[in-house]
Formats: sequence, C-alpha cells, structure tokens
Amino acid sequence: MRRYVIAGNWKMNFTPSQATAFINEIKPMVAGKDNCDIIFCAPYVTIDAAMKAAEGSNIKIGAENVHFAEKGAYTGEVSAEMLKEIGVEYVIIGHSERRQYFGETDETVNLRTKAALAAGMKVILCLGEVKEQRLAGITREIVSMQTKLDLAGVSAEDMKNVIIAYEPVWAIGTGLTATPEQADETCGQIREALAEIYGAEVAEATIIQYGGSMNEKNAAELLAKTNVDGGLIGGASLVAAKFTAIVDAAQ
Ligand code: PGA
Repeated sequence: MRRYVIAGNWKMNFTPSQATAFINEIKPMVAGKDNCDIIFCAPYVTIDAAMKAAEGSNIKIGAENVHFAEKGAYTGEVSAEMLKEIGVEYVIIGHSERRQYFGETDETVNLRTKAALAAGMKVILCLGEVKEQRLAGITREIVSMQTKLDLAGVSAEDMKNVIIAYEPVWAIGTGLTATPEQADETCGQIREALAEIYGAEVAEATIIQYGGSMNEKNAAELLAKTNVDGGLIGGASLVAAKFTAIVDAAQ
C-alpha cells in the first residue's frame, strides 16, 4: 500500500513572516489528518521560519531545489549539506519552471537528484510532457525517457527516498487539469518505466504524485485513481482552506 503524499510548492511566494502566519493558520486545520504525509516546499529564506512554525505538527517543510556540487564557486546556489544542516528532509528537483526558465536539463536534474540522495534527503522529482508532445501522441515516450534519464545511476535502494511528481507542463498554473484518466494513464506509464529499470516491486512501491492545477474541486477524483498517490500543488497550496480540502480528499 502506497501512502498519499500531499505536497505544496510555494514557488516564489511567502516571505518568512507570511509563511509563519500561513503555517499557524493551517496547522490546526490539518491536525490529526494522518492518512497522508503533508509537506510544504518553501523558498530557501523562508524555510527556517516555516519549520519553526510547523514544529510539533504533522507538517514537514522542504526546499524547492538543490545544487549538485558539494560546495564551491556556484554563486546563488545552495548545497544539500546546507539544507540538511537546517533540518530539511524533502527537496523538489526538476520542476518544469526550473527546466523552462533556468536551463535545467535531464542531466542537471539527474546530478541534483543523486546529490540530494547521497546527502540522505528525500527527492520529489518532477517530470512531464509539454502540450505539443501530448498533442503529438508521444507522452509515454517523453515521461519514460525523463524517468530513465533523471534516475540514471540511482539505486533501487535509493528509490525508497524518491517521489515522482507527474506534472504535465500544459497543466501547471494554467487552470487546465489532466483528466483523472489522463493522470492515471501517464502515472501508470511512469510506473512501467520504473518497472523496466528496477522491477515490479520498486515500481509498485514508488509514490507518484500528480501536479498541475490540482485543487479543492478536482483532488478527490484524481486521488481516487490507482496510479495517483498524491499531489504536488502550486496555486492551491497558498490558500489554507483549499489545501486542507485536498488533504481531506486524501483521508
Ligand atoms: P499549480 O502548480 O498547482 O499552480 O498548477 C503545480 C506545480 O507547479 O507543482
């Protein structure tokens, strides 16, 4: 049985004081809802404040990216060791906005994934097709290729610490959502790619989230699908009532 993981991706939203206020607001709303893991991934400078506010609750705070080098001349970047030292357990890697706006490739996503895992962190690895690829009927090929490239050199043992977020790029921040059937089908195709690499046992055990305009209205239908084990939520993770409704849908 796979456990639901409901993760918020705050993106470039919330200052430290805003994050504190948000966590204080949502903490009592999700208290005791233990049928899923609840994570908010925050901007680097906001992590500490969010963690302090979340102390003693069922909310975990993660990061939105991590660099692959241990240390050195990489202006503006943050290493896995730095995140570990402040207690960060989860990190998003390969988000489509990183790929689209900041030149991330499957190669750098793979390097970051391996660095985070080596540091003992848990990775939320994002992948998904763009609109033209879905229209061309090559979604399966795209997600399969991304799965294989992004996880190259990651051991079966390390897969215990990998969550995959299937995020069709055309659905992110657009209000367009994959239908539950599309989400289930493509998450299933990712699972098949995992089975090719690691065998059925690892594929069945790996948590695969859906992300892309998941909200309080469509969450129940999406989460009901066999291959959808949670959500990575952008816009709706900034509104306590909306995010709580998604957590409720996973109960
Ligand atoms: P969205 O973002 O929910 O605002 O579409 C999802 C994501 O980018 O992870």
